[in-house]
Amino acid sequence: MVTYLLDWLGLLLRWLHVVAGIAWIGASFYFVWLDNHLQAPAGRERSDQGVAGELWAVHGGGFYRSQKYQLAPQVLPATLHWFYWEAYTTWLSGFALLCLLYFFRAEAYLIDPAVAAISKPMAVGIAVGFLIASWLIYDALCRSPLGRHARALTAVIGLALALEAWGLCQLFSGRGAFMVFGSAIGSIMVANVLFVIIPGQRELVRAKQQGRAPDPAPGLRGKQRSVHNTYFTLPVLFVMISNHYAMTFGARHNWLVLIAISFAGACLRAWFVARHRAAERGGYVPALPVLLGVLALAAVVVALAPAPGRGAARTQAMAPAGELSRVQRIVQVRCMPCHAANPTQAGFSAAPNGLLLETLDQLSAHLPEVQQQLLARTMPLGNLTAMTEDERSAMLMWIGHGARR
Ligand code: HEC
Repeated sequence: MVTYLLDWLGLLLRWLHVVAGIAWIGASFYFVWLDNHLQAPAGRERSDQGVAGELWAVHGGGFYRSQKYQLAPQVLPATLHWFYWEAYTTWLSGFALLCLLYFFRAEAYLIDPAVAAISKPMAVGIAVGFLIASWLIYDALCRSPLGRHARALTAVIGLALALEAWGLCQLFSGRGAFMVFGSAIGSIMVANVLFVIIPGQRELVRAKQQGRAPDPAPGLRGKQRSVHNTYFTLPVLFVMISNHYAMTFGARHNWLVLIAISFAGACLRAWFVARHRAAERGGYVPALPVLLGVLALAAVVVALAPAPGRGAARTQAMAPAGELSRVQRIVQVRCMPCHAANPTQAGFSAAPNGLLLETLDQLSAHLPEVQQQLLARTMPLGNLTAMTEDERSAMLMWIGHGARR
C-alpha cells in the first residue's frame, strides 16, 4: 500500500514538475526571443521616453505591442508582473522527485556497486554536496575578475561542468550520475533567478520608487546569468529524458556521452539565439553552432552503435543442452522480482514500464530491449537481484543464438 501511494506521489510530482518546467522555460524562451527581436521605436517621442525597442506580434486572435525601456520607465505602473514562481516550483518539485527516487531509493537508482560500492547515506551526501558545490563554484567564477570576459568565463564553466560529468560517472550509476548532473545545472539556473536576477530587479524597482537613478550593475549581472540559463536549458532537458534511453547513460564512456550531448544542446540553443538576431546582420545566421551541435550528436550516434554480433561474441553453432531452461531460471530469479504483474521486490507495486517477463512469450517479445539493457548493464536495476557476470553472458549468448526455444 505504501509503495502504491509513493508511486502516486511520484506521478503527481512529476506532472507538476513538467508543467512548471514548461511554464518557466516557455517564458524564458519567449523573453529571449522578444529581447532579440526588438526594433528601434518608430516615433521620436517614444524613444525620448526611454523606450529602447519595441515589437509587434499577433497571437491568439489579437495584436500585442511590447516595449522595452532602456533602464526603467519614468513612472512605474500600478501593476508590475514578475516571473519567478515558475522557476521555484520547477526546482521544488524536481528536488522532491530527486529525493523520492534517487535518494530514498538510492540503492536502485543512484548506486551501482560495479562503479563504486558506496553506502546509501554516503551516496546521498555526495550528491547533495555536488549540488551545493556546483552553485558555489559557478557563482564564484561569475563574480571573479574572469566574469568580465564572457568567452573565457564560458570556457571555464564548460570545463568545470565537463569535469563534474566525469566525476559523477566515476561515483554513481550512469542513470544516477546523469540525473545529479542535470539537477546541479538546473539548480544553478534557479539559484541564478533567486539570488541574482530577482534581487537585481528588486533593486531597480526600489531605486525608481525612491527617485534614485537605478544602478545598471545588478541589471547587467542579471543579464549575464540569464544568458547562461539560456544555454543550460537544453542540456538539462536532455538529462531529464535520458533515463528512458539506457544506450546513453549505460554506455561504457557515459561521461563522454553526457558531455557531448550537453555541448550539442548548448550549441543548438546558441544557433537559435543567433537566428533571432539575423535581422541585425542582414538576415545572415552563422552556421558554426548548428554544425558543431549536429556533429557532436552524430559522433555520439556513431560511437554508440552496437558492433555487429556484439553480445554473441562466442556464438557457437550449437546451443548447449539445457540452455533455455537455464535462461528461464535466471530470468525468474533476477528479473521477475520486478518485471511481474505482482512484483515481489520491495518498493515495486507494478511491473516497471509495464514490462512483464513472466513467460517465455513475454521474454521473446522483448528481446531487443532485453539485449540492450543487459549489454548496457542497466538491468537488473541497481543489480538489486545480484545477477552474476556468468548469468549475464549466458542470457546474452542465448539471445545471440537466436533465442532458440
Ligand atoms: C529491481 C527491479 C528490477 C529488476 C530486478 C529488473 N528490472 Fe528491468 N526495469 C526496472 C525498472 C524500474 C525499469 C524502468 C526504467 C525506466 O524508468 O525507464 C525497467 C526497465 C526495463 C526494460 C526497459 C523496458 C522499456 O520500456 O524499454 C527492460 C528491457 C528491462 N527492464 C529488462 C530487465 C531484465 C532483462 C531484467 C533481468 C535481467 C530486469 N529488467 C530486472 C526494474 C527492474
